[in-house]
Parts: sequence; C-alpha cells; structure tokens
Amino acid sequence: MSLAQSPSKMRFLLYIGLIIAGCNAQQKQERRFPDDFIFGTATASYQIEGGWNADGKGENIWDRMTHTQPHVIKDYSNGDIAADSYNNYKRDVEMMRELGLDAYRFSLSWSRILPNGLSYKINEAGVTFYNNYINEMLKYNITPIVTLYHWDLPQKLQDLGGFINPLFPEWFEDYARVAYENFGDRVKHWITFNEPREICYEGYGWTTKAPLLNATGIGTYYCAKYLLLAHASAYKAYVNDFKATQNGECGITISVNWFGPLTDSADDEYAAELKRQAEWGLYANPIFSEDGSFPKELSEVVAKKSLEQGYKKSRMPELSDEEKKYIRGSSDFFGVNHYTGAYVSAEDNKGNYITPSLLADIDVGSYVPPEWLSSASTWLKLSPNSLYNSLTHLHNKYRNVKFYITENGWSTTPDSGLIDDDRVLYYRTALNTLLDAMEAGVDVKGYMAWSLMDNFEWMEGYKERFGLYHVNFEDPARTRTPRKSAFIYKQILKTRVIDPNYEPATLTMWIDEGH
Ligand code: NOJ
Repeated sequence: MSLAQSPSKMRFLLYIGLIIAGCNAQQKQERRFPDDFIFGTATASYQIEGGWNADGKGENIWDRMTHTQPHVIKDYSNGDIAADSYNNYKRDVEMMRELGLDAYRFSLSWSRILPNGLSYKINEAGVTFYNNYINEMLKYNITPIVTLYHWDLPQKLQDLGGFINPLFPEWFEDYARVAYENFGDRVKHWITFNEPREICYEGYGWTTKAPLLNATGIGTYYCAKYLLLAHASAYKAYVNDFKATQNGECGITISVNWFGPLTDSADDEYAAELKRQAEWGLYANPIFSEDGSFPKELSEVVAKKSLEQGYKKSRMPELSDEEKKYIRGSSDFFGVNHYTGAYVSAEDNKGNYITPSLLADIDVGSYVPPEWLSSASTWLKLSPNSLYNSLTHLHNKYRNVKFYITENGWSTTPDSGLIDDDRVLYYRTALNTLLDAMEAGVDVKGYMAWSLMDNFEWMEGYKERFGLYHVNFEDPARTRTPRKSAFIYKQILKTRVIDPNYEPATLTMWIDEGH
C-alpha cells in the first residue's frame, strides 16, 4: 500500500506538517536581532549642543550662516542653544539609560575643540565637555560612536576654501589625530564624515546646506575628491598610529536612499544607476569598489557634457592611480544613513535643472507614489522595502563589507504631540526589512535611530521633529519628554523582537535595573 493510501500515515504526516508550519510561523513572528547587535540612537553637535560661543568655542559655518542670513532657515532659528546638550548632557545619558541603549552616536564640534580649525591651539574646555559626555555614557556601559564631522566646519577653514582647498585633507587629519589622542582610549568606533552627498552636493554644489556655495557645475565633484582624500588620511592615521594600542575601528557614513527604475526598460535601469552613482556611488565607489575610481557611467556623462559645454576637460576631477590606491579600502565598515526611496525614470518627471550641475549632468526624473505615507519632511515618505533594497544592493556590489545603520528615522510636526503612531509604524517597518536583509546574508552590526531627541533640523529649523523624545524649545530648561515611539523602541531593544502588537501601558518612563 502506498503512503497516500494509508489514512493513519496520512494523519501522521499532516500532524507533522502542521507542527512544522506552526514552528515556522512562530519563528517568523519571533525573528530576533542577535544579542550582540548594537542598538542606539544618533545626534549631531550643531543640532543639539547649543553653547555656540561657550568657553572658547570658535565660530563654525552654521553659526556664521544663521547669524548673517537668518532668512535662509525656515523659522529664522539657529543652533545657538538648540537642545542645550552642552548643559544637559547628564539628562541625555539618563535618556539613553531609559531606552536601554547599547550605543550612542554623536558628533564632535570641530571648532569647540580647535577654535580656528587648526590643531596648534586646543580649547581645553571643549575637550573637557566631550570627556564628561563620554565618561557619563561609559559609567552606564553605553558605547560611544563618534562622528568627527557632521557639517559644522570651523569658519576660518571655510574662509580658506573649506573642502575645495587641497590642504583640506591635512587639516582634517590633524583634527582627527587630536580626537584620537584625547578620546581614543575610550572611543572604539570612529566615523570620519557624515553624509558626503549632503556636504558636497547640498553645501558646495547647491544652496540647501551651509556654506551655500552654489558652485553648481564643479562644487560637488571637487568637494568629493578632497573629502575622500581627507577621509583616507584620517583613516590611515588611525590605522598606522592608534589602532594597535586603541583597538578600535574607523569608517564613514554615507546617505543611501533607494532609487529603483520606474519601469523595467533598459533606459530606466540606466537612469536609476546614474542616480545611485550621483547620490552615493561618487563617495562609496572610490572606497569600497575593487578598482577604486569614481563611478564609470557618471564620469562618462560629466566628461561628455563638459566638452559639449566648452570646458577643456571634465568638470569632474580625476583620481590619479596613486590617489585611488590611497583611498581604496580605507574603511572598516560602511555606515548607512537610510530614510526613504523613489523611482527613477529616463524621461518622466524631470525638473528644470540648472546647467551645469549634478542634476543636469544625470538628467533623470523621479517619481514617488502618492499612496506612500508622508512625514513632516517633503522628501521623507515611508517607502516599503527601501532599506532592504539598499542593503542587498550594496552587499552585492561591494563584497565583504560590514554595515552599521548609522541613521534611520521619521519626522513629525512641532504640534503633533507625544502619540506618534506614524513614527512607530515607520520604525517597525524599517526594522522588519532590516531583519529581511540580515536573513538574506547582509552583515549588519548595529542600528541607530535618528534621533534621540528633537533638534535643529538644518534649513527647516525646529519645524520638523525627529526625536524619540520631544524637546520643549520654549522652555529654558529644554525639557525632554518621551514619545510613544520611545517606549516601542525600548521594548524592541529589550526583547530583540519586533512585536507588532506591543502597546505601552503608560507614557511614564523608567530605568530598567542594570542600566
Ligand atoms: C541626516 C543627517 O545626518 C541629519 O543631520 C538630519 O537631521 C537627518 N538626516 C534628518 O534630515
């Protein structure tokens, strides 16, 4: 008699089948982040610290821009006081303990440590402030992850051309060495630059970040070159002179949103690839690819258009073989800041791009489905699977790379209160797709939510809020209050599981034992 004809065997197999299906369903529901996965939150100096001229701090490009051209900021505000973390750092660490964070990513203000940017004059009060911040974290086993540069260049260095000056790599390396020397005994994770695209394209090639340089045709590309050399110099300084004794790691954080083709036509595929190269490949390829050059297709279109426009050579500078060798491989990890995605088209939805510029060079359109959930920021929609797509793409493109998600988050309006269900949905969705990516073999070691608390959102001032904690900017004490998302994040960190049904019983915070 065959198996199919035996009713008792059939029943038995059905029974086993049900058990296996049940286990799978349970496993699916209870997918866990590994115990050694690092959960944290992220912030940046200018966005939270305040104390803009306290105790010897020098002026930086955001101080200068917001003081001299206040109208460029949506609510005419600035970071003079911000969340006043310069005075509230103990409360910040208390919030980290409330959330049960493993790590905290923050940045150093270059001009707080070196008032005019150069390393011959150190402001001891600045060093003391960061020592206090770091030591307070370490008291409670919270691992500091330090970004050296999150957009607040000392003004004096900007006056000398900033990132476009070929001396920039030297200035940055000197500053990095001061940081390693003063904090490297306790800081084991270093990030050189936060988001090169935003520094170079928005600040040098356009007018949506300080220093508003608007050098549209060349600013982005020249900034990219010297930023990469500066990054490599700071990385090599760490590897050659500090790593053996300090035992840490050093990498870079790049903004990687997902850009897929609108249709499966070859033209749209090519357009999406160009967009990815313009957005992040320009900075990632020289470091993480095998050949270490600027991305091929982007280099080709810029060279072609430059000649057509009457330039004698490409507006994109070359990387010499020596420079490529110097930059290639200069990162222990790839820090990914991820927020959203869009579809890219070769023909549809193009803007009126200024010529010459990065956008005119690639000349593609983008499309965002209207049904995607909107945040308070025009550019930020809940784009399903965009984190998964970004990570698996990077994983396949750049072999053997280790990733940290160094930022991911959602904005709400100032008056939206403490019940932030959209933010909760966003985090749960992103973390689920992160697990999908990890199950697909992507090596991700940690995840930092942006942000621990509301802060100065650059050109949007205080109009867009990214915090797990609400900050009352009307109150001189800058009181911080947890939002619902803070409780959800805390629960995920504690259990390592994303429970779609978990609801906090109260919005009163507490510190768990051991934190
Ligand atoms: C990325 C930047 O690093 C951070 O400074 C900014 O606040 C967030 N994106 C949200 O826009």
